[in-house]
Amino acid sequence: MSYPYQLTSLEAYQKAYQKSVENPEAFWAEIAENFIWHRKWDEVLNWNFNEPKIEWFKGGKLNITENCLDRWAESQPETPAIIWEANEPGEAGRIITYKELHFKVSQFAHVLKNNGAKKGDRICIYMPMVPELAIAVLACARIGAIHSVVFGGFSAQSISDRIQDAQCNIVVTADGAFRGNKNIPLKSVIDEALINCPSVNSVIVLTRTNVAVSMLKGRDFWWEDEIKKVEAQGNPICNAAVMDAEDTLFVLYTSGSTGKPKGVVHTCAGYMIWTNYSFVNVFQYQKGQVHFCTADIGWVTGHSYIIYGPLSAGSTTLMFEGIPTYPDAGRFWEIIEKYKVDILYTAPTAIRSLMSFGTDPIKGKNLSSLKVLGTVGEPINEEAWHWYDENIGKKNCPIVDTWWQTETGGVLISNLAGVTKAKPSFATLPLPGIQPVLVDENGNIIEGNEVSGNLCIKFPWPGMLRTTYGDHERCRQTYFSTYKGMYFTGDGCLRDKDGDYRITGRVDDVLNVSGHRIGTAEVENAINMHTGVVESAVVGYPHDIKGLGIYAYVIFNGVHIDEAHTKKDICETVTRIIGAIAKPDKIQFVTGLPKTRSGKIMRRILRKIAEGELNNLGDTSTLLDPAVVEEIIKSRSPL
Ligand code: WTA
Repeated sequence: MSYPYQLTSLEAYQKAYQKSVENPEAFWAEIAENFIWHRKWDEVLNWNFNEPKIEWFKGGKLNITENCLDRWAESQPETPAIIWEANEPGEAGRIITYKELHFKVSQFAHVLKNNGAKKGDRICIYMPMVPELAIAVLACARIGAIHSVVFGGFSAQSISDRIQDAQCNIVVTADGAFRGNKNIPLKSVIDEALINCPSVNSVIVLTRTNVAVSMLKGRDFWWEDEIKKVEAQGNPICNAAVMDAEDTLFVLYTSGSTGKPKGVVHTCAGYMIWTNYSFVNVFQYQKGQVHFCTADIGWVTGHSYIIYGPLSAGSTTLMFEGIPTYPDAGRFWEIIEKYKVDILYTAPTAIRSLMSFGTDPIKGKNLSSLKVLGTVGEPINEEAWHWYDENIGKKNCPIVDTWWQTETGGVLISNLAGVTKAKPSFATLPLPGIQPVLVDENGNIIEGNEVSGNLCIKFPWPGMLRTTYGDHERCRQTYFSTYKGMYFTGDGCLRDKDGDYRITGRVDDVLNVSGHRIGTAEVENAINMHTGVVESAVVGYPHDIKGLGIYAYVIFNGVHIDEAHTKKDICETVTRIIGAIAKPDKIQFVTGLPKTRSGKIMRRILRKIAEGELNNLGDTSTLLDPAVVEEIIKSRSPL
């Protein structure tokens, strides 16, 4: 069975695209009819990119969980909603049907209410990749509380910053998390984070790893005990809060070019429609198929393509607790065989990492259930694309290269599997409703083909961010002020002779490390907190597996026991302040940094040195002190 708005031919795509540009309101109103509303909207779209103000389906009333759960619990109660695979291959997996998921979300929604949660409250979720994470997310949405999921790899300091920024009153966590052969003490990280978070009244703790944890009386409660209380109350189904289309559904923090991560805000109706529409069309999902997105729910990919997109389409979503290389590099292929996965959606960094193990781990694994492959998070190099195509898809599965961002809610530029053509390393064409433009540095739109520039979107789409939490002006400045009247993505892009788009990478000070967004300023702030560090500058350099590695130039005036030791200490500091994902791969001690006369660090030069392009540093005439550069080149150690 397909969906009425599924575009199954090139002509259908072209027609839909044309209509979405010529008459966007009629186009989206027709799609919105396929969802459950308590009240229909008064106005499809009201917008102005200068403020910015973006409202979709204003006046409409709904709850996203009724679209993700109730309708399927009624029409297909026994269909698996979530298939879960544990970190340890020996541990039994879990299958949760729509009927069961509906029930469990209701139960946990009662738990949240019993703990004082109300519509509009912010709830921080810091959990392992277990079904209860999805249940907690959906339970928030059920009662109209705003979830702020924080990836399990972030440090106490990062969590604390996020909780304080959103003024969360409840935290949902677990005793610990299993990831590969690691046992991560989530609750104790939360305990440290909460030292500076007076807004938090309750912490709900799921039992997962059985490590010893401290449980503070009056603040910390076991998940299992709280569920028992709800059972004793004998009140299983929790009615969904009736939400305005433009009420906030969630906040998700992401890095930008300045020091502090910002809370990207998504709202109920537009986000629901966008994740559903993009899921159904990009992957060409067919009812009954198993969709395996390997992202963590702590990132936007997990929000949109493990939870909301698949569940709003009544599909079966596979959630994996572990990592691709544990216990060995055949784990993904085993999971695909075990659950007869139809769609695999992963990141280029995972593909490159698995590629490095050769094809032995694939041998003997039956991958014939696969129909569609996808990638997301960073540009995919042609070598990885072909490896994926030949060894995993057996040249039989279309690969969708999906370009999008935390801010865009869902995929904006991608081929549609088997419907529009794929081209290695190209995201190819915009989805209906997306009007990409390339602009030059002066903001002029670059027309025609075989051109490149900065990628902007000139018209709103339902899934776009509405604001940055608590700071609308920051949203305006970051995304809507660089180019007047347009949303600026921060990515560079080229359009080839066929009109296909290829994303070339960030043009701002954001690094894409293993598909994770990391702001250079954030890493520099963390490094500068280390005692003895005077100043630092962070740039990216090409890395075989991670895409980009982190290269830090550090001015240090403390006392070294030895340099290698100090480098380790600096890495520890970054791990403590941000998390291990932001740890520099290379640190070089320098005596000065190349600056312009006005004091700006010339990162372009530092990037070239990090890349090893020492003979091609470009224009250095604006340098305050050219000797600094020679010094840095001299003290550079080979990569
Ligand atoms: C990059 C992840 C090339 C891009 C969904 C973007 C990509 C940033 C692709 C957003 C792709 C994502 N090809 N680059 N298919 N997908 N990117 O917010 O630089 O974690 O701006 O969202 O990842 O990262 P974010």
